[in-house]
Amino acid sequence: MNRRDILKSAGLLGLNLGMGSSMSTFAASLQQPAVATHSTEPSNAFSNSFLSVPESYGPTQVAFDRPLPKALEGTLYRNGPARMHRGETHYHHWFDGDGMIHAFHLHNDSMTHNASMIRTDKYREEEQAGKFLRDGFGTHFDNGLSVLKPDDLNVANISVLPLGDELLALWEAGSAWRVDPDTLETLGRKVFSAQTDGVSFSAHPRVDPDGHVWNFGYLTGASKLVIYDINPNGALNRTQVIDAEHTNMVHDFAVTEHYLIFVLMPVTFDSQKTGAFSDRLGWDDESAVDVLVIDKATLNVQQRFELPAFFAFHFGNAWEDGKQVRIEVATSEPLGEFNTVIKQTMKGHLPSQAQVQSRDHTQTMEIVLDLASKRARTEIMPFGRADFPSFDNRFAGYKTQSLIMMTRGSSMPTDVFGFNQVSRFDRKRDRIVQWDYGDEYIAEEHIFVPKPNAKEGDGWLVGTAYDWKNANTSLSVFDTGSLGEGPVAVCTLPYHLPLGLHGKFVGNHT
Ligand SMILES: [Fe+2]
Repeated sequence: MNRRDILKSAGLLGLNLGMGSSMSTFAASLQQPAVATHSTEPSNAFSNSFLSVPESYGPTQVAFDRPLPKALEGTLYRNGPARMHRGETHYHHWFDGDGMIHAFHLHNDSMTHNASMIRTDKYREEEQAGKFLRDGFGTHFDNGLSVLKPDDLNVANISVLPLGDELLALWEAGSAWRVDPDTLETLGRKVFSAQTDGVSFSAHPRVDPDGHVWNFGYLTGASKLVIYDINPNGALNRTQVIDAEHTNMVHDFAVTEHYLIFVLMPVTFDSQKTGAFSDRLGWDDESAVDVLVIDKATLNVQQRFELPAFFAFHFGNAWEDGKQVRIEVATSEPLGEFNTVIKQTMKGHLPSQAQVQSRDHTQTMEIVLDLASKRARTEIMPFGRADFPSFDNRFAGYKTQSLIMMTRGSSMPTDVFGFNQVSRFDRKRDRIVQWDYGDEYIAEEHIFVPKPNAKEGDGWLVGTAYDWKNANTSLSVFDTGSLGEGPVAVCTLPYHLPLGLHGKFVGNHT
């Protein structure tokens, strides 16, 4: 199958998403929001993190308050939306912002931070124009330029993937971008092969314990998934196009020893509607969640299951247990509700009640697929509202006892979006241990880093948190064995960082 066939098969040729193509009835509701101010009111806490974001940071070296564990040496790379304003134009949704990649180097009881905007084609074009030129995921601009291909909107702002000698900045609906792991300079668009040039590469690749990488791509409205099978050295091994419904927005997937698992939610897309992309997405109440079990060996669908509808961005680990497959999943409020809440948050007008209502819809659970009886069910896990799962990746695809999630403590003001706790579920003891940052912090994803030669789940957690009252960002290191007692070392930058999404830790000796 050549490139044209793959693009055609995946619906990527001749597609005009129609974004920014005409005046819209949505425009009026999206025009008024004021740029958030430096007010330290809780309702401004989240949006304030995007004020005064420069083109780059650092290098800035700060000392930890206590010695770092000797074996913990390496770099936490993080990505996230950062540039929300350009000239007179500004975005209204968290996911719209141009990506910024951060490196937090841990060495000699200190941390050195540097960061740089990811200079995608979209970024450079708009830099020259001095304004945003096309709609974002959740923002519509009247008279915006048409979107002719997914990479026209690519902000590379969701996650990172160390792959071979490269570091990739990932979006979910377009190409990955290559970044120099030392200087963070943007090197160019990643092309795995001529056949997949321009095909989307999602932000949540899964890495087997042997370094083998699995990923997928989708295009809204195309009813196709493209599977990537990538060798540990970064070379593309195989691709496969899968026919599947409910592929209008697919953020994550799960991988076990033998299977790729897609949990496809009934997000609809109205191609006739105008306005921001997020406003054209809907939800089919009548449909179930489709679960596809794909055989890694053949890349063909082996079994399909259905579950009552729910929405989730992220999955934790997944594994096979006899004839059962178990998948950890952090459910979210329905997508439309999430988009409303996050837009209100970015305007600094999140009503307390909205947050409370959203929380009631969410829970962490395990999906259980019985391959023998062909039945699927869910089992609740005791986290409550939680997201950003992390686990011991040395056991990716195999049963793990420990799952790390970000959670909300009761001290967190109800009109502040996000999380302020890091929690660890110990499956064997059936208990959760957690650390609460307190009421003035928004804590970001915390990454599990294994101790050398340790048993599963025995390691450190490395994560950042934004102190919105004092406008600074700190990095904390926890020992999983003493999480409830708080961090073993903390360092604080003399500035704050824009609240981001996902990262990866690269050890100096791995
Ligand atoms: Fe994500």
